Amino acid sequence: MQIFLNDRLVDESEAMVSVFDHGFLYGDGVYETMRAYEGVVFSLDEHLGRLGRSASLIRMQIPGRKFIAGAVYETIRANGLSNAYVRVTLSRGKGPIGLDPALCKKPTLVIIAELFKPYPVKLYQDGVFLVISPVIRNHVRAINPMIKSLNFLNNILAKADAIDRGAYEAIMLNTEDNIAEGTVCNIFFVKDGSVCTPSVDAGILDGITREIVISLARKSGLPVHEGLFSPADILSATEVFFTNTTAEVMPVSRVDDTAYAVGSVSQKLRKLYQAEVRHYVHLFRDSQKEID
Ligand code: PDD
Repeated sequence: MQIFLNDRLVDESEAMVSVFDHGFLYGDGVYETMRAYEGVVFSLDEHLGRLGRSASLIRMQIPGRKFIAGAVYETIRANGLSNAYVRVTLSRGKGPIGLDPALCKKPTLVIIAELFKPYPVKLYQDGVFLVISPVIRNHVRAINPMIKSLNFLNNILAKADAIDRGAYEAIMLNTEDNIAEGTVCNIFFVKDGSVCTPSVDAGILDGITREIVISLARKSGLPVHEGLFSPADILSATEVFFTNTTAEVMPVSRVDDTAYAVGSVSQKLRKLYQAEVRHYVHLFRDSQKEID
């Protein structure tokens, strides 16, 4: 496998990062996960925009968008991929031990592109089991969840507890006991005919898939309610689903002891999302033809 490391592609066996890298020492850095469909990286601009925001929120200077976009495509092509999982990681870089960000002169950039392994069809047919986590999501004034940071221990602890309880994913609450988000996804539910999802004020990552699903729901005439919700709201919902870049729209069959049917709203939104992806891929291809 070819990995993009800092300024060039290297073989996986040479893709090494220093033990003095502050990403390793302190989880000091940011990342993005993207998905390429037929060689086209979906919502690349939005992902790079968010990467830039995450970096600026941790006061880190990173290479320009054009450079990273070029490197992402170079990595996909070098590995002969079409449908790919792409992870762009930027750590603070190598520097002496110590917390001062100024100790690191240059961020480390790593881009990994692998064959995308589709989620089992059965998960989309039957839905997945979620538990409400005893681990609360980081407070906005601790590590703002809007920073897609390498410091993932908060979510890892919630995920480990969910696995212990036989669940697929955890729903994390915020310090006010409102629903925040999953460990790697945004949470949606349907109640009284409305599509409900925690607003960014709940202390979440503003997912790119979430944004698209909200706009597709609105366009198709479904009322959308972004707000602050309690676990009781989700337990009295008729449908629950989650969204993220890799799973797209994933139905939920159970939250704690409450069961849900895989409903028409999540199925509809999943289809609309997939159509949106196809549309994006076609538009991208057409724009490339014009350049050629
Ligand atoms: N996770 N919330 C959290 C905490 C996340 O880590 C993610 C994404 C999301 C959904 O964001 P998006 O729709 O932009 O993928 C919400 C990715 C998939 C990851 O960590 O690999």
